[in-house]
Amino acid sequence: MSKVDTVDGPKYLKQSKALVDHLLDEYLPSSDVEPRSLHEAMRYSLMAGGKRLRPVLALAAYEYCGGTKDNAPDTIHRAMAALEMIHTYSLIHDDLPCMDDDDLRRGLPTCHKKFGEATAVLAGDALHVVAFHLMAMTGSNKAVIELAEAVGTSGMLGGQIADMEAEGTKPTHEIVKNIHKRKTGALINASVRIGAMMAQADPLMLDRLTTYGENIGLAFQIIDDILDIQGDEKIIGKQPGSDSKKQKATYPEAIGIEKAKEEAALLVDKALSVFEEYEDNVLTFIARFIGQREC
Ligand code: IPE
Ligand code: IPE
Ligand code: MG
Ligand code: MG
Ligand code: MG
Repeated sequence: MSKVDTVDGPKYLKQSKALVDHLLDEYLPSSDVEPRSLHEAMRYSLMAGGKRLRPVLALAAYEYCGGTKDNAPDTIHRAMAALEMIHTYSLIHDDLPCMDDDDLRRGLPTCHKKFGEATAVLAGDALHVVAFHLMAMTGSNKAVIELAEAVGTSGMLGGQIADMEAEGTKPTHEIVKNIHKRKTGALINASVRIGAMMAQADPLMLDRLTTYGENIGLAFQIIDDILDIQGDEKIIGKQPGSDSKKQKATYPEAIGIEKAKEEAALLVDKALSVFEEYEDNVLTFIARFIGQREC
């Protein structure tokens, strides 16, 4: 397995987040261009920040598999921006009154609170389209198909409808696991896989990184459920307590908060197990970060 030298994880996260911010600014239509209100809403939600985890994972996987910054940077850069646009579109729609009905996102009023529901729906739709346009421009059919499968009815959207339909029910462990794998895990795993594909990773490497992606993807949503109970609004940038208000199917609801924490830690360990025992690289750093995150 190829190896990235031991890295300064926090520095890597900071630098790659800055790169993502720059790319998004470059690829997004300007808010001076018509339809201005739509472009403004897209920019508002996208440029509000966030961890940029999905594009950072794609970049880290790309580099881990031997892709370099000089080797067709447009390709990986477009893929990274596309992944963050899909994610942000999903957040805008997830916050709508007809879904989770949330007022705060990334420390700011949600898109529909700021611009109204119709504009928020369209801003999400538009980000979805720009994302697929960018992914198509990478020239990788495989990446476009990977993204479509991750976002579609067997992935994120399937998870989102299952999440809505499970509201108010007492979820079993299996049901909530299945929802979380789809609504959140699928896009996180696809981010890792697309990064690897852009670096022409061989099937064995892709399999290993898929195990990594699946495990951190599920762990990420379990921790999100826990932060909804124990997180600090100033740090998470959204209002805690949203899940219990909507009687959501969450891990703490299904198995209790302590068991949920244990499962997240186990999943992080499984993700780490695809690497050599003491291997220390950006991907192992991110897996540990996910297990310990406070935002
Ligand atoms: C929040 O995602 C929604 C989930 C899928 C859990 P993030 O926690 O990655 O949100 P940002 O992008 O950092 O704002
Ligand atoms: C969001 O899950 C999943 C997607 C947006 C696809 P949540 O509803 O738990 O995310 P937050 O807590 O609102 O960020
Ligand atoms: Mg939701
Ligand atoms: Mg939500
Ligand atoms: Mg949540």
